[in-house]
Amino acid sequence: MELGFEGHRIWLFRASIRAADFAKLYPSFTMTEDLTEDLAGENSPLNSISDNENQDDDTFRNILTSCETGSARPAKENYEKLEKLGEGSYGVVYKARGKDSGELVAIKKIKCDCAEEGISASTLREISMLNQLRHECVVLLKHAGFHHNHMLLIFEYIEQDLAQYLRAITKYIPAKQVKRLMFQLVSGIEHCHKHRVLHRDLKPANLLIGPNDVLKIADFGLGITHGIPVQHLSDPNEVVTLYYRAPELLLGTKKYTGAIDMWSVGCIFAEVHTANLLFDGDMEWEQLKEIFETLGTPTEEKWPGVTNLPFYHPAFPRWKKKAFSQIIEKKCGGNELCWDFLDKCLTYYPLQRLTAAEALEHPFFDAVRDESRFKWNKRRKISTRPRKRQKIVE
Ligand SMILES: Nc1ncnc2c1ncn2[C@@H]1O[C@H](COP(=O)(O)OP(=O)(O)OP(=O)(O)O)[C@@H](O)[C@H]1O
Ligand SMILES: [Mg+2]
Repeated sequence: MELGFEGHRIWLFRASIRAADFAKLYPSFTMTEDLTEDLAGENSPLNSISDNENQDDDTFRNILTSCETGSARPAKENYEKLEKLGEGSYGVVYKARGKDSGELVAIKKIKCDCAEEGISASTLREISMLNQLRHECVVLLKHAGFHHNHMLLIFEYIEQDLAQYLRAITKYIPAKQVKRLMFQLVSGIEHCHKHRVLHRDLKPANLLIGPNDVLKIADFGLGITHGIPVQHLSDPNEVVTLYYRAPELLLGTKKYTGAIDMWSVGCIFAEVHTANLLFDGDMEWEQLKEIFETLGTPTEEKWPGVTNLPFYHPAFPRWKKKAFSQIIEKKCGGNELCWDFLDKCLTYYPLQRLTAAEALEHPFFDAVRDESRFKWNKRRKISTRPRKRQKIVE
């Protein structure tokens, strides 16, 4: 079963659907408890599960799905809850261990009244996109399903996120390590964009870091697929955490492209070098002011159409662009290649901003691109065709 594009049908109905309806649409996505009474056949694994709610305190009983996750393991395993890893807008993430396999996993537990309200659109989106986006640089969703009134998403466990990593370092990250991390981030984004998915919330807390400088993109709760006929696209100010939000979103555009993810890549790139936020405004206008003060106030010449954006004001002060060597100084590993890469990611005009595919070819990555650890890069077809117009979400 392909949840990905098949899943479009769900969006056409309504923003969320009842769990039982979801299971009817996707028979291999099984559920626990009373909701499944009419769905579980005689041979269903559900029949072997007791439904004692109280035993759940420290154990996740995963009866869930297989959703064709590609995992060779049985879809049915009990998990022992170990510790809380994070709590976000949509749920709590726990570290857990499989009781039979001993395998560590991260379980995202999202409260949903499966009988009444249904599964939220963001959860459906996250499952559907992760099933469609299999890549070394995207976190692996192993299983997904229901337990009591919760939706459980079971991911491969990865030691820490980039925000924790950056908080813990005491000196600058060596240049080669920065390149490796950024190369994986850009590879993951290129894969998403190639599959028509915009992440829309790239930030260090959503990037997981494993041993040997492995980086994987997580948290597709705000992701969106181009071409899904949604009636109400999120308000531009509801996507992308403020510090990493592209200027076109801050200026109120309703039409945007994968360029918004590449702006976030630029901000993360500078942060990985300096271990400090690049733009740290507390409000939208403050964030814009910080961007303009550093990159210069945009003009029609630099960014055709900017003066027509809803929140553009002709009275914006005219700041001049600062040198990128001031943003990433030499002592933090800055050099010509690094400044050029940053300049291209932080280009105002979205249609001229570096695309993820172009970024992978930037000479900044020459030193790491062919390392054997990045074997997926060899699979990637290097396009020599002229740049395609980017798909616009509106
Ligand atoms: N697979 C994983 N392995 C280890 N830790 C993880 C994993 N997935 C998530 N985490 C941790 O849990 C945190 C929250 O996860 P995630 O971003 O997916 O949830 P969220 O509810 O969308 O959070 P937010 O709203 O804050 O973005 C992450 O920042 C990370 O620290
Ligand atoms: Mg998150």
